[in-house]
Amino acid sequence: DWTTGNVIEEQVARIRAEVGDAKVICALSGGVDSAVAAALVQRAVGDQLTCVFVDHGLLRSGEAEQVEQDFVASTGVKLKVVDAVERFATALAGVSDPETKRKIIGREFIRVFEDAARELVEEAQESGGGDVEFLVQGTLYPDVVESGGGTGTANIKSHHNVGGLPDDLQFKLVEPLRTLFKDEVRAVGAELGLPEEIVQRQPFPGPGLAIRIIGEVTKERLDTLRQADAIVRAELTAAGLDREIWQCPVVLLADVRSVGVQGDGRTYGHPIVLRPVSSEDAMTADWTRVPYELLAKISTRITNEVAEVNRVVLDVTSKPPGTIEWE
Ligand code: XMP
Repeated sequence: DWTTGNVIEEQVARIRAEVGDAKVICALSGGVDSAVAAALVQRAVGDQLTCVFVDHGLLRSGEAEQVEQDFVASTGVKLKVVDAVERFATALAGVSDPETKRKIIGREFIRVFEDAARELVEEAQESGGGDVEFLVQGTLYPDVVESGGGTGTANIKSHHNVGGLPDDLQFKLVEPLRTLFKDEVRAVGAELGLPEEIVQRQPFPGPGLAIRIIGEVTKERLDTLRQADAIVRAELTAAGLDREIWQCPVVLLADVRSVGVQGDGRTYGHPIVLRPVSSEDAMTADWTRVPYELLAKISTRITNEVAEVNRVVLDVTSKPPGTIEWE
């Protein structure tokens, strides 16, 4: 019968049989799926696994640290961190179009990951032990069904898709979450001792904060959005709304300014949009009726604490016709 303990035992045995003495790599995104998949593989084959975390500078406040410190501390996983912040900033400079942003991020992610993977392949060859033969992927059961049930490399969303690797970098896939639903993945992650912030994380898009800045992405704008987002997350959590709310994108309208007043002075700052939604599967969604008092508190905090922001607005659009994200 189904228990998280049984799932872990079964997957660990299966991974060991599949992988043998070979080496394995895994890209960590900060999300729950890749983290739990990596933790299972590390439980099975220990140091034969190396995780790669590409820091693209588009995560929210504290998320890179969650991967680099908390995840490593709780699993003992071997981690290679690639600081690609400058590279992504340069690639995104001057770009406002949403699809172009997504394509650039997807392309850069694959290139950076390829370079890291190639280095690990070479290191493994020099050190003698097993070659790097496997790539871990956090594919869930719903992804398998959606893509027609086949194995392979084609069923990952574009920015996460490391299936399009060049010929000298073809890996067999290890997909230990293929039979699980999201809530089961969270249960397995908790049982493996992963930090609560990772296991309970709400959905967050691969292109990160870049698609929550309407306009060009700059470091200053990322900082502004990160501060506002941290306030929203802290207040929603403190109010006990993390389960009722599916996710709450916080969006910076970087190309819009409006006039405000603060103290004796006139301000000319940017609006922040709150987009709290309730949903079962993200295919459809409704805007969450967050209590007015809480909205008031969030608004006051953001306008007081975040320079550059002088207005907070609430998105009251369902999906459809709106999407959850603004880009
Ligand atoms: P939309 O905006 O299409 O979003 O209503 C539906 C869900 O998907 C998330 N999302 C993404 N997730 N990579 C992801 O892994 C992406 O490129 C991406 N774009 C949107 C979004 O946060 C929501 O949960």
